Amino acid sequence: MPAVTAIRGFKDILPAEASLWRIVEETARDVVRRFDFVELRPPIMEKTELFQRSIGQSTDIVEKEMYTMEDRGGEKITLRPEATAGLVRALLEHNLHEGGRAVKLFCLGQMFRYERPQKGRQRQFHQLDVEVFNDPSPLADAETIFLLYVFLSELGLPSLSIVLNSLGCRECRPAYRQSLIDHLSSRKERLCGDCQRRLEQNPLRTLDCKVPSCQAEAQDAPVLASFLCPDCRAHFEAVKSALASLGLSYELDERLVRGLDYYTRTTFEVRSGDLGAQNAVAGGGRYDGLCRELGGPDLPGIGFAVGLERLILLLSQTAPPVSDGPDYYVAILCPEAQAPAFKLIHQLRKKGLAVAADWTPGGLKSRLRRADKSGAAKVVMIGPDELASGQVLIRDLVAKEQETRPIDRPDLF
Ligand code: HAM
Repeated sequence: MPAVTAIRGFKDILPAEASLWRIVEETARDVVRRFDFVELRPPIMEKTELFQRSIGQSTDIVEKEMYTMEDRGGEKITLRPEATAGLVRALLEHNLHEGGRAVKLFCLGQMFRYERPQKGRQRQFHQLDVEVFNDPSPLADAETIFLLYVFLSELGLPSLSIVLNSLGCRECRPAYRQSLIDHLSSRKERLCGDCQRRLEQNPLRTLDCKVPSCQAEAQDAPVLASFLCPDCRAHFEAVKSALASLGLSYELDERLVRGLDYYTRTTFEVRSGDLGAQNAVAGGGRYDGLCRELGGPDLPGIGFAVGLERLILLLSQTAPPVSDGPDYYVAILCPEAQAPAFKLIHQLRKKGLAVAADWTPGGLKSRLRRADKSGAAKVVMIGPDELASGQVLIRDLVAKEQETRPIDRPDLF
């Protein structure tokens, strides 16, 4: 152990795991490109107020999970707990929405939440975040959910389910909110401390509390579906039929409320049966009031974020990480071989080949062991015999074949 270890909940991604990360990130980039998204990289820190105003003061994230500090100038700043707020701010700050067309943005990167670390839950984690601005059509909702589905299926992830709900809008939600408060108020003493508090500030959050007594009380609570206004109802029906036209199956969950306050209408999650308690692989939804809330015009928005650590966990259950070894390991077998090997290795690298070597000369056995460990496809051996003949021996470790090449002809490798 070093004298100073990593921060709790902040994990190193080790070389053996990095190949899976690359697969996930490359697949993500390829899929979003096909769906016509462009990348925007917002900073990792924002003014604290941005998250308070967007995610909501009474959410767990803002109340207990943000890494907030004062900078040396006395400004309150926060490590981003999610990407949507930063993307909305950037969209508005750079007027990317001008001209009235839809703007489709994605971002890949680290997020920070001070949560209790456990399997699939860290304090620093990564998301692929995807957002569509300025497109009110239910087809944009279905397109976004389909993008998520394509991404996850191209990764070959097993047993995932898409869960869908509508949270209504600022017209129809207040009546539902009130009826939920009425229902739960008479049972307040049976709710956990958090939910008693939520009842005043954020009653919808009581619906996804994990405490059994709260779940029991929420069981026969009124459902939002029966409060939706005609516009929200029509929007939701259109989303569902667009998904059906793409052959996508989903479950409806009237208790899916999500942990961030900005959502309106369509909300969704993708869950896995193979992750234990932290089973949400991705979550998202529409947030038609957020741009206005942040001081911009009344632009609709919809998006989602996938937790990359959870994808990696699932992928490593199905496909163990593969280390991609170099094309060649060059075994320097005597001190005289060092200089010519040094030259050859760099000619090969310049040509585009991946080459590993130990500069200190060593015996054949130990160098073959090193070659094996490096995962190289082929070993190039350079010892006294090779120097005398000017021909190096190349052993193919997979096909178990040998051949020779002139040491001064890197073009033949
Ligand atoms: P979220 O549900 O808070 O939504 O997070 C999305 C995903 O990030 C989760 O489903 C999970 O996979 C992953 N995640 C969240 N917290 C952690 C953690 N502590 N450790 C590991 N993974 C985690 C949002 O962040 C919204 N901004 C999504 C969105 C975009 N909605 C609209 N646009």
